[in-house]
Amino acid sequence: MSKVAVVTGGTRGIGEAISLALKDLGYTIAANYAGNEEKARAFTDRTGIAAFKWDVGDHQACLDGCAQVAEKLGPVDIVVNNAGITRDGVLARMSFEDWNDVMRINLGGCFNMAKATFGGMRERGWGRIVNIGSVNGQAGQYGQVNYAAAKSGIHGFTKALAQEGAKYGITVNAIAPGYIDTDMVAAVPAPVLEKIVAKIPVGRLGHAHEIARGVAFLCSEDAAFITGSTLSINGGQHMY
Ligand code: CAA
Repeated sequence: MSKVAVVTGGTRGIGEAISLALKDLGYTIAANYAGNEEKARAFTDRTGIAAFKWDVGDHQACLDGCAQVAEKLGPVDIVVNNAGITRDGVLARMSFEDWNDVMRINLGGCFNMAKATFGGMRERGWGRIVNIGSVNGQAGQYGQVNYAAAKSGIHGFTKALAQEGAKYGITVNAIAPGYIDTDMVAAVPAPVLEKIVAKIPVGRLGHAHEIARGVAFLCSEDAAFITGSTLSINGGQHMY
């Protein structure tokens, strides 16, 4: 039976590319989404990948959502924690809600999804968890104390859980994308983005499929000896 992978935020942007790359490897994919049902239906029509709606920042919703995936597709062997939001602004203008939403969804989502799936992976003696961090979690970024803290937290979370999973055949790794040409990056004001791109040695934004290739590798059998690591895919913007 083919392995089952849940990709959070898996119906658009980097998540869509990851869902497609894992499907190409022969896995059965559940693409989680939080937003628009019509768009999710269009994604399923286009790709043949089942979409499941829940908020990764809601602990119980993750437990229920993963149980639903298991019932429909089989137990979850692979989790890609990709769902994330930005609420950018300098600290002086950042509200508690802006801080809390980003921590709850970007970092809390990783905890919630691991709680929902790690036990089953342990029982079956095999699992892959790939967490999507960020260059901005490694290097920091003006106007992103919330996002940088959450993404930096993801890197610590990855290294700690990797130690717990190793003896059960579960690898836990992170990818730290740089600036990728998705809606999230398109929301950065053009003059600000121009200055950022000027500092990327490769001289351009990345593409979603360039992140997805890394995820696919970390989920494969070939990557069984890689755990607790962070793969930076950022065009040389930050060498870490
Ligand atoms: N370093 C130092 N100073 C900076 C700066 C920087 N990187 N960026 C802006 N400033 C300064 C400006 O020069 C300006 O100074 P003055 O007031 O002295 O002129 C001041 O900060 C205010 O700048 P803005 O006019 O831009 O202020 P704003 O309040 O309108 O916007 C902001 C602030 C929301 C943070 C805006 O600058 C912004 O959106 N920055 C981009 C943040 C970013 O890169 N987000 C990444 C989103 S994509 C993502 O997160 C994916 C991923 O993983 C990579």
